[in-house]
Amino acid sequence: MAQLTGSQRGAYVQAMFTRIAHRYDLVNRLMTFGQDQALRGRVIALAELKAGERFLDLGTGTGDLAFAGLQATPDLAQAVGGDFTLEMMRVGRNRAPGRRVRWSATDALNLPFPDQTFDAITSGYLMRNVGDLDRAWAEQLRVLRPGGRVVCLDTTPPARNWLAPFVRFHMRFVIPTLGRLITGASDAYKYLPETSVGFLEAGALADRMRRIGFEAVTFERAMLGTHAIHFGRRPR
Ligand SMILES: C[S@@+](CC[C@H](N)C(=O)[O-])C[C@H]1O[C@@H](n2cnc3c(N)ncnc32)[C@H](O)[C@@H]1O
Repeated sequence: MAQLTGSQRGAYVQAMFTRIAHRYDLVNRLMTFGQDQALRGRVIALAELKAGERFLDLGTGTGDLAFAGLQATPDLAQAVGGDFTLEMMRVGRNRAPGRRVRWSATDALNLPFPDQTFDAITSGYLMRNVGDLDRAWAEQLRVLRPGGRVVCLDTTPPARNWLAPFVRFHMRFVIPTLGRLITGASDAYKYLPETSVGFLEAGALADRMRRIGFEAVTFERAMLGTHAIHFGRRPR
């Protein structure tokens, strides 16, 4: 399934997240040994949100990054959580902070926002799922105001070092087994490691961002090199 592109990939991804929505957060915490929340904290720190700004969390799922943004900067003018899987957002909306987020049915490949709407855009574990990576970056660039920031958290193909066998074991056996036991959807939790291995290496992803038009592009690796956080800015 990881080899699907375009709208076929979109339909597959949407159906998969609809099935696992109710258990998504629990599996996430277990899969990352609880570190996913610390990574989201780092994403929000890099986004440098300020009072009165407009903030979009794209591929928001159950809204963890949108909530973290609001917690860090409660007086944002707007915090939008956008996703094309309504069931994921429904789970998020039913949580206490869900009321402050503006939930928006949003396809990352066709953002339903005018040019230069947002001061900052974050995404967590979105970009390796999209059917057309360049288009997803171009859409984010379009809706950012000049000088606006983009911060992207995702997994990155594991490095070839002494940890590689352990990372492979975690991805091939631990994640699919946890996913099957907790959600009953073993195919979904095979797809996730497959897309991690097949995704662009962090340096190549940064190059793609530069090619699309972002400047000041940097990235840092996290969680033993299995995750990367990319930062970029729309030129002024
Ligand atoms: C792995 S979840 C991540 C959710 C959340 N950002 C987090 O950090 O936990 C990926 C989310 O991206 C969404 N997604 C994937 N492709 C998308 C697209 N083309 N447009 C909008 N949302 C998309 C899925 O519906 C899903 O909710």
